[in-house]
Amino acid sequence: MEAIMAENKGRTKGETMRNSSEWVLEDRGADQFLVNRQVFISDDILQKEWDVIFRTCWIYIGHGSEIRNPGDFRTRKVAGRQMIFCRDKDGAVRAMLNVCPHRGALVCREREGNARGFFCMYHGWTFQTDGSLRSGPGLDAYGPKFDKASHGLVQAPRLEHYRDFYFINFDPNAVSLSDYLAGAKEYIDIVVDQSPSGQMEIVSGTQEYDIKANWKLLVENSVDDYHIITTHSTWINYMSNSGVDMRRPKGSLLPSLGAGKNLGNGHLTTDNPNYRGRPVARWISVYGEEAKEDIDNIRAELVARLGEARAARVADTNRNLVIFPNLVINDGSSVTVRNFTPVSPGLMKVTSWALGPVEETEAQRARRLHAFLTFYGPGGFATPDDVAALEAAQEGYAAWREAPWNDLSRGMYKSEDDQLDTDEGHIRTFWRRWKDLMETAA
Ligand SMILES: [Fe+2]
Repeated sequence: MEAIMAENKGRTKGETMRNSSEWVLEDRGADQFLVNRQVFISDDILQKEWDVIFRTCWIYIGHGSEIRNPGDFRTRKVAGRQMIFCRDKDGAVRAMLNVCPHRGALVCREREGNARGFFCMYHGWTFQTDGSLRSGPGLDAYGPKFDKASHGLVQAPRLEHYRDFYFINFDPNAVSLSDYLAGAKEYIDIVVDQSPSGQMEIVSGTQEYDIKANWKLLVENSVDDYHIITTHSTWINYMSNSGVDMRRPKGSLLPSLGAGKNLGNGHLTTDNPNYRGRPVARWISVYGEEAKEDIDNIRAELVARLGEARAARVADTNRNLVIFPNLVINDGSSVTVRNFTPVSPGLMKVTSWALGPVEETEAQRARRLHAFLTFYGPGGFATPDDVAALEAAQEGYAAWREAPWNDLSRGMYKSEDDQLDTDEGHIRTFWRRWKDLMETAA
């Protein structure tokens, strides 16, 4: 830190708003990587994130299993816009603005359901499930030049999916989702390979909570294994007391030596040998004696279908995967799909779903949901402690003028291809991408 701090010494006192080239500072010679705390508190920076990141990146909207049947819909705010994610009457998946073309009111005020169409409560215009205008009271008053076809709901300029994870993009010229996902596809494949038919589904029910912290802090936290040993000491102790071997191998802060990986385009992941227990893994005592036979059978199916090596990859490793900018898939003792959106620089809304193979039995599903609730759930072992840590950091950023820098230099003395999960190389990946996009915009 010394080199960069010395260089910026004159500016740290009474520091004013920096320009975009100074938000993220990297000095490879000095093994230093610093992020200026203004990026967590500035309204102007958040506005730029809306204009650039959330408008030109692929943003997760939902999973195909949530809208299985024609007419099924979910409404949610995505990239700051009210959206309808639905399957139209012909079976095509749609992502449309939930905005009446007439005066802008919501045309669907339900969170989810099955509909034959959408109805604007303001003046009564109605729309088909494909977004086209069906009718409205007294439309003839617009005269013969009224073009009904151009008065439908606005479709997201781009809607694509990878293995049933649907994303939208408001930039019509964006690269394909497949190109965008880059190395993240390999890790999505590992998640989906848990299902014998390759079909995963969102389990009904949603966790929603607010965190009084900047949205980017949850990106960092989701993959920051350095914090586990302190922030999650309660959980570590619980695991030890449950008979899980939590002894640390040499050189590790944690019971395993995992990796932090750069997957390209700002995506990143942890890639760890399993120590948390996975419903698909070798039997681990944390699931209880009665689960042993069932879990052994799941593993046998994986080996028969995928071969020993791939089965081990699926069953004996876990990962927290960040799809840039705001989707996290935590594939550990359960699969949590976690999406978060800024409300203001110091506040985000988090939505989480449990994901599981469609073939699961009731007992397997119960085990999965138990894990979903007890670790990453808002009342689980991990999340309340994480929320407290993130909110504490956000509090600290009020002193950004006097204490301007976050340090993300762990592991920088090594190759960026050789980073532990407790290093910060994978987190630097996020920040480099963030910086590139924000600078291009500037
Ligand atoms: Fe955590």
